[in-house]
Amino acid sequence: MTYQYSFKDCLQRAERITWRVEDLIGPDKTLDFERPFLPESLARTGGFDFLSPVQKRALNQIRGHAYLSIFGLVEEFILPFVLDHARPTLNADGYQDRAYLEFAAEEAKHIQLFHRFREAFEADFGPGCAVIGPPEAIAGHVLGHPPLAVALLILHIEWMTQKHFQESVEADHEIDPLFKSLLLHHWMEEHQHAHLDTLMVRDLAARLDPAGIQAGFDGYLALGGFLDAGLKQQAELDLAALEQACGLTLSDAQRQTVISVQHQANRWTYIGSGMSHPNFLETLGELGAPFRAAAEAAAPTFC
Ligand SMILES: [Fe+2]
Ligand SMILES: [Fe+2]
Repeated sequence: MTYQYSFKDCLQRAERITWRVEDLIGPDKTLDFERPFLPESLARTGGFDFLSPVQKRALNQIRGHAYLSIFGLVEEFILPFVLDHARPTLNADGYQDRAYLEFAAEEAKHIQLFHRFREAFEADFGPGCAVIGPPEAIAGHVLGHPPLAVALLILHIEWMTQKHFQESVEADHEIDPLFKSLLLHHWMEEHQHAHLDTLMVRDLAARLDPAGIQAGFDGYLALGGFLDAGLKQQAELDLAALEQACGLTLSDAQRQTVISVQHQANRWTYIGSGMSHPNFLETLGELGAPFRAAAEAAAPTFC
């Protein structure tokens, strides 16, 4: 089955979704630090028998902070990429122009949304939760890859947010309602982005020969490796934040256990859940059956 998406449909759906950052977070809407922020299927913090319930919850919340930071960071390369893709075709199709500009405006809003949540987190939790970066260096590295590679990574990210909400957040009644609201509202707009990215990938691939498509797919896999190295580093930073926040000193074996489990949890959250999404695989299959097969073979490492 090949999914049929249209710029007009995406625009019309996007125009019906009208939330503002101020509707989600503000003086009367604050994070509840008595609750976890991420569902356990993404956080995987519940299995450490050498941590107390409060320490496990703190690690969950630190992972929530990293989620805000990593999404803020990826949106910073998605925004210029969408604008760069839209500009050469301006005026060719009014619905296409408006759908891409709406897409870019929503990503700019999401950057602010994640930033505001991070500020609220740090105001109550305190400083000390370091994150990979800086965002400009990561954006520069990512955008140095072929456009098809970047478009595939963005498509992977958009479908990933769909899976996060539908398969783990939606049915979770434990997590902080404000954090859940952020994930819900992000999910609502990312749905259109996933469709627009699919159209973008098709457009880019239609202008490439087989070697160009191969280079795009290879670039996507290389970006996955780049992201994975960052996620290992993030697991180490999150452990340091936990030790500082809780006044903990773990043994070397306990530290290695936390880093290993949390690296794999990060892999599932940011790589496996996108790479294995059926709609993402469908698009890879349109580029060529071997690309889909390669992603299907690689995905279990990140699950
Ligand atoms: Fe977004
Ligand atoms: Fe998006």
